[in-house]
Amino acid sequence: MSAAIIDGAAISKSILAELKTEVQELQQSHAVVPGLVTILVGDNPASLSYVTRKVRTALELGFHEVQENCDADISEKDLLALVERYNQDSSIHGILVQLPLPDHIDEKKVIYAIDPDKDVDGFHPVNIGRLLLGGDEVRFPPCTPAGIQELIVRAGVELEGAEVVVVGRSNIVGKPIANMLLQKNPRANATVTVVHTRTRDLAAHCRRADILIVAAGVAGLVKPEWINPGCCVIDVGVNRVGEKISSKTGKPVAILRGDVDFDAAKEIAGSITPVPGGVGPMTITMLMKNTLASCRARL
Ligand code: GUN
Repeated sequence: MSAAIIDGAAISKSILAELKTEVQELQQSHAVVPGLVTILVGDNPASLSYVTRKVRTALELGFHEVQENCDADISEKDLLALVERYNQDSSIHGILVQLPLPDHIDEKKVIYAIDPDKDVDGFHPVNIGRLLLGGDEVRFPPCTPAGIQELIVRAGVELEGAEVVVVGRSNIVGKPIANMLLQKNPRANATVTVVHTRTRDLAAHCRRADILIVAAGVAGLVKPEWINPGCCVIDVGVNRVGEKISSKTGKPVAILRGDVDFDAAKEIAGSITPVPGGVGPMTITMLMKNTLASCRARL
């Protein structure tokens, strides 16, 4: 039987509609709107495309949105000063510095310079610490892991006591999602295993999973025979495997593949996210959710 497709685009749309209503209510009750600054350094096409989508979504929700597009040769000192300006700006509740940054800038220094209470990406060590502690301590769950958790919950997949296997141990996805799903709360309570490039038998671990989250960045890494029948498969991979001409615009566009062989996996899994249209749209939605939460926290 073919798996249920977890439609990240549709789920995202319904969350954004909920957020839009909340923004309108906040504006009416407190005369305040969430403020987000997006800082882009240089003109990396992938970063530009991500930032454009973030800006568009923020504007659609009625946020106060400020765009800072900096030249690729901006000095580290000037970038840190820009971040500090928005730390001090009370109309801004979220600061997003699009990564990666050019080589001459120390990414860590820039992330550490963001006020943790405006760090809507959830990358600052203070917010990572808060995430590990869990419960009321959590301020800004990082956006991709938050999107994954939301997809699992909204798809009605049982997390309580489930065997979750996370493939990948990155700071942005693998480590945070593992920690979020082992927390003691009704949206978690799972038993979590993290596997990575030095794991001896990846396939054996994957075969035990009730929920398999793959964030390895390797196209087609997970083979269909690694999937436990009926498993929920969350594919975080976005791998550019070539280019094609768009039938809509006539321009070249990237061909994207996930970390899972989707066509074969969907015949075995119980539910599965597609690439694109699965986890991807949720990341931006969770950024908006964090910015709204930051605005509320300031009231
Ligand atoms: N680059 C790729 N993904 C992200 C993200 O979620 N946040 C930021 N700031 N940069 C990114």
